[in-house]
Amino acid sequence: MTDEVKPPTPAAPPPAAHAAPAVAKPAAPAVPPANLAGKTTTAAAAAGKASTRDPDDTSPLVTRRVWLAMAWGAFSAGSAVALAATGRFMFPNVLNEPPQQFKVGVPADFGMGVDERYKESNGVWIVRTADDIAQHASGFYVLSTTCTHLGCTPNYLSAEGKFKCPCHGSGFRTTGINFEGPAPRPLERVRVALAEDGQILVDKSRKFQYELGQWIDPDSFLQIA
Ligand code: FES
Repeated sequence: MTDEVKPPTPAAPPPAAHAAPAVAKPAAPAVPPANLAGKTTTAAAAAGKASTRDPDDTSPLVTRRVWLAMAWGAFSAGSAVALAATGRFMFPNVLNEPPQQFKVGVPADFGMGVDERYKESNGVWIVRTADDIAQHASGFYVLSTTCTHLGCTPNYLSAEGKFKCPCHGSGFRTTGINFEGPAPRPLERVRVALAEDGQILVDKSRKFQYELGQWIDPDSFLQIA
């Protein structure tokens, strides 16, 4: 007995000709949820945005850099101002004004007339006279170099024997008496005395005004025979 050979099983018949072919539907575009519209909440969204950016368009980045630079500049300026204020507090201005009292040497160091050695440094003229108009004696008086008009510093004109103010033209005799220009009164004298060491002591803390009759005060004049 021989084995019967079975014919192979026929393949499944093709689908019926009338069956509609399957049509692939286009994928629906991804629509963000309504409550997230307009928001970039995820890295994916950011990446999506970046991917749509024109590579040649750098304006948003430039704008951000400009804003950062402006903010940094404002911060730096504010810090500098605060630092300067702190420095000013730590190192306040100190006025080194000359002392009100000072010695100018012994009487023998001075000749007759106006001595200008202490004009710039101390704001006074030392004047030696043989006969003062107020004290009627020989000796020294000391004149302030402040013009009695508006406070400028006059110049001593030795050839003319007078003080002349460069600001508005006031003129003063060597005594201090005003005689021309807008100055309303004479120059002021300051205290002068003889110190224990024999030097002339000038004291600017005390002033003497002619129009008030103060030039006859003994402290306004150093009598030297
Ligand atoms: S300040 Fe000296 S004349 Fe005016």
